[in-house]
Amino acid sequence: MPEHVVICEVGPRDGLQNEASFVSIADKVRLIDHLSATGLRYIEAASFVSPKWVPQMAGGSDVLARIERRKGVIYSALAPNLRGYEDARKAGAGEVAMFASASESFSRKNINCTIAESLVRYEAICRQARIDGIPARGYVSCVVACPYEGAVEPESVLRVADALLSMGCREISLGDTIGVARRDDVARLLSVILAKIPAERIAGHFHDTSGRALDCIDMGLRHGIRVFDASVGGAGGCPFAPGAKGNAATDQVVELLHSRGYDTGIDAGALREASKFMMHILGRQ
Ligand code: HMG
Ligand code: MG
Repeated sequence: MPEHVVICEVGPRDGLQNEASFVSIADKVRLIDHLSATGLRYIEAASFVSPKWVPQMAGGSDVLARIERRKGVIYSALAPNLRGYEDARKAGAGEVAMFASASESFSRKNINCTIAESLVRYEAICRQARIDGIPARGYVSCVVACPYEGAVEPESVLRVADALLSMGCREISLGDTIGVARRDDVARLLSVILAKIPAERIAGHFHDTSGRALDCIDMGLRHGIRVFDASVGGAGGCPFAPGAKGNAATDQVVELLHSRGYDTGIDAGALREASKFMMHILGRQ
């Protein structure tokens, strides 16, 4: 039996949050419906953040209400605080994802608070999510470098990842937010992280600014990581991380994994259709 690797599709969230062009609710819904038909089992479908901060993500409740939900697919949503969590819960998000940073400056720019303050907010979300029976996922951003501070030490990443796990996140996605990591950086980071946290609880989230996201995924695989975030058509970026480009493109990640003999459960043809639709709504080739 081929070994399974999970792809968390973040295109409808990370892929669209940084786009200058306006994507309608109807197109977001059609994109997610396309993705649901590919065999993906995890789709980050919305983000319940302030629409003043990220107007592109407005209307998450409508998106979650109108998508055609497939059995076995988790439709997750981002939440930066209890208000966002409540909106996600009411909209029927299957998982809530909170996002902390390993760098103080990025934390302030992205969510307007210190790392410590963000962890207090996330603890409150985790407590409520446990009561409501909603699983929680944690992100740590800037795991290799910060757009404002430069290099970030693996120990800073470990502290935040550890805190998110101990408050109840089932998995931590390590984000190379600005896409500058090299293979060696990933190896160094994972040697510190995996000394304390089992590989089964870690996911990789690599932006492809420097064209090295697939290399970083390869290094993750070598360290036993079996969950990777990816974005259909390679769209994405964070409005508060200047210069950051899209995530690893789902089609390329799937191709890499299949060529290595891993199973993803994803149909490459259906994924191509979803990528074409993403390019269509973004007005790209
Ligand atoms: P703030 O201004 O400090 O918060 O923003 P506030 O509590 O003072 O509220 C300000 C206004 O926002 C108020 O409205 C609130 O009601 C409203 P007003 O009174 O001015 O009309 N508000 C909300 N509205 C809707 N939903 C909410 C919500 N909360 C407050 N949940 C806040 C703090 C966290 C809200 C803000 O900074 C924010 O929304 N930040 C989001 C930034 C973001 O979405 N970044 C991109 C996602 S992270 C990422 O991309 C990285 C990742 O991909 C991993 C990686 O690549 O590394 C995950
Ligand atoms: Mg990201």
